[in-house]
Amino acid sequence: MNNITKIITLVVVILCCSCKTNIKKEVLPSKKQTVDYSKESNSDYNTRMEWWRNARFGIFIHWGVYSVPAGFHNEKEVKGVSEWIQKRGKIPVSEYEKYAKQFNPEAFNADAWAKLMKDAGMKYVVITSKHHDGFAMWDSKVSNYDIADFSPYKKDILKQLSTACKKEGIKFGLYYSILDWHHPKARYESYLKNRKEDKTPYKENFKIYFEDYMKPQLKEIITNYDPEILWFDGEWIKEFTHEQGKELYQYVRSLKPNIIVNNRVDKGRNGMRGMSKTDNDYAGDFGTPEQEILEKASALDWESCMTMNKSWGFKKSDHNWKSSKHLIHNLIDIVAKGGNYLLNVGPKETGVIPQPSIERLQEMGAWLKINDEAIYGTERLQNNYKQGDNIRLTKKKNKDILYAIILKKPTTTIVLKNIKPNTESSLYLLGHSQSLTWNYTEEKGLEIHIPNDLLNRWSETIYAWTFRINGKEL
Ligand code: GLC
Repeated sequence: MNNITKIITLVVVILCCSCKTNIKKEVLPSKKQTVDYSKESNSDYNTRMEWWRNARFGIFIHWGVYSVPAGFHNEKEVKGVSEWIQKRGKIPVSEYEKYAKQFNPEAFNADAWAKLMKDAGMKYVVITSKHHDGFAMWDSKVSNYDIADFSPYKKDILKQLSTACKKEGIKFGLYYSILDWHHPKARYESYLKNRKEDKTPYKENFKIYFEDYMKPQLKEIITNYDPEILWFDGEWIKEFTHEQGKELYQYVRSLKPNIIVNNRVDKGRNGMRGMSKTDNDYAGDFGTPEQEILEKASALDWESCMTMNKSWGFKKSDHNWKSSKHLIHNLIDIVAKGGNYLLNVGPKETGVIPQPSIERLQEMGAWLKINDEAIYGTERLQNNYKQGDNIRLTKKKNKDILYAIILKKPTTTIVLKNIKPNTESSLYLLGHSQSLTWNYTEEKGLEIHIPNDLLNRWSETIYAWTFRINGKEL
């Protein structure tokens, strides 16, 4: 090869190589794209939230080591909710761990729990995977402070319950506390005590816990149990920041894009009212009023979480049970205002759900069997969610069907002011096959006539009557 041929060959080779690389660049898939979940479109958000909005009624389960002392330490009652006993009773970690060593819920029957929820008309569950005490209810690989390694029970509770719920068609959700009284790097008190040896500022310590413990634990529960909801709590601690909240939301969604996350993932919650402040792009898909119901209807997504007695976790001395009527009326009020009801039970250390909770759930289920269509898949009315104190209104989505739910025994004529029935449509009381007579005038509104024999069937355990009306809201 003479010099000229050599040069030509070299140029050809270089050209070919560069062409190849160009082709390669085009064909190779670009680096995995990261989606920014804070920029989700409204329509994607609505699609993701759809099942949750239709579900309306879920069960909250507070269960963990605190169900062992059940509100009593050294034979003395510790004031307040039972799951706070470690903190309120000033119980040192090593002493509290003794309760974890005793936690052995041999009577836990996941199938029976799932059946109970289903019969109660609950469409989803949120169970504490880890509460503030830091004890994990699954076999965590980043910790041995969990049900499989630390307690005599050895079996994975989340696995059993998620499997049972899937069988019954109940959506499975997990509560996870950001605050942790057990992890040495997450405990401010522990930092204060040990600051002579531990020179790391507590915010730095918290970051270590955040990255090396919390995130891996969340990854475990999301990949192992495929939850539909992540329900954060304990976000108020000062170590945890708004930036971390946003990062956490992004992290959880990147592990499971269609998961639904409550607003306690970030710092936007406005106290017990529970709705997020709107002024600082806070993360979270729905508001979490605690032990209260919003005063008025809201177009935002929200869920009231409430106890049946006072404590979330089981407490031996807590006998302050609300009546079934009270709980059913809460559900109706919440649904009419456009929210969901997350009603709590606190199982005992044995794995048994307290009898008063079971009775109430059964009574709610019996009411829902008749009145279900006024609750599930409904939406709030645009102008009036109620009439007076004793009537609540709901509407079937995308249909001209309205429901008037009466919370008290009516008189022979019920007058509804803001509803116009379709001409000659039939009007029913749910659970009663005979249609009712009615008349409508612009001045008087809709008058529904209730025959005496029907009126006489009202009893205290009816709780509420639902009238189904084909028509429109005025
Ligand atoms: C509170 C409590 C907690 C309970 C929770 C339920 O933030 O700290 O014990 O789990 O509310 O909403």
